[in-house]
Amino acid sequence: MAEATIDNPAVADGDEGGVRRRDFIEIAAVSFGGIGALATLYPLISQMAPSRDVLAESSTEIDVSAIQPGQAVKAVFRKQPLFVRRLTPKEVAEADAVPASSLRDPESLEERTKPGHKDMLITMGVCTHLGCVPLGAGEGEVKGEFGGYFCPCHGSHYDTAARIRKGPAPTNLLVPEYEFTSETTVTVG
Ligand code: FES
Repeated sequence: MAEATIDNPAVADGDEGGVRRRDFIEIAAVSFGGIGALATLYPLISQMAPSRDVLAESSTEIDVSAIQPGQAVKAVFRKQPLFVRRLTPKEVAEADAVPASSLRDPESLEERTKPGHKDMLITMGVCTHLGCVPLGAGEGEVKGEFGGYFCPCHGSHYDTAARIRKGPAPTNLLVPEYEFTSETTVTVG
């Protein structure tokens, strides 16, 4: 029977014991490495996060009182186009007539607007396929087969709730964070 020595601890503990002890040492080293990496990353991430001041500066305030039913305006939010559109009763009815469950990105108009303001549709003006600016917000622009927005880059059609209905875009036009700060004023961001 072999003797247990410092060089051959497996003999003292049995092979399994030796393996277990080595594994533990390695796992412990990895765990401490992980904690060290996390501890180093956290200050970096918190430094990268924009301060409240920066975020407040990058919000956009819009007076929506002058937007008539059937009209849209193009604004800018954090350097990207923003569409603000007041739907006609017909456009609201068209959006409501489609079961959300039948859509590629299932969302109702109600879920995409604020309570009491179902006719006010606020979305980013950025196609979710490859980022072109869709048509449909400007006067006389093509609105596509579903009466909302049309992206001519590769043919994505959005409906009156700016939901993707046809073409390669994977998701609806993004609804940004916003709130009504009065009956006629919206703050985005
Ligand atoms: S970027 Fe809009 S369809 Fe491709």
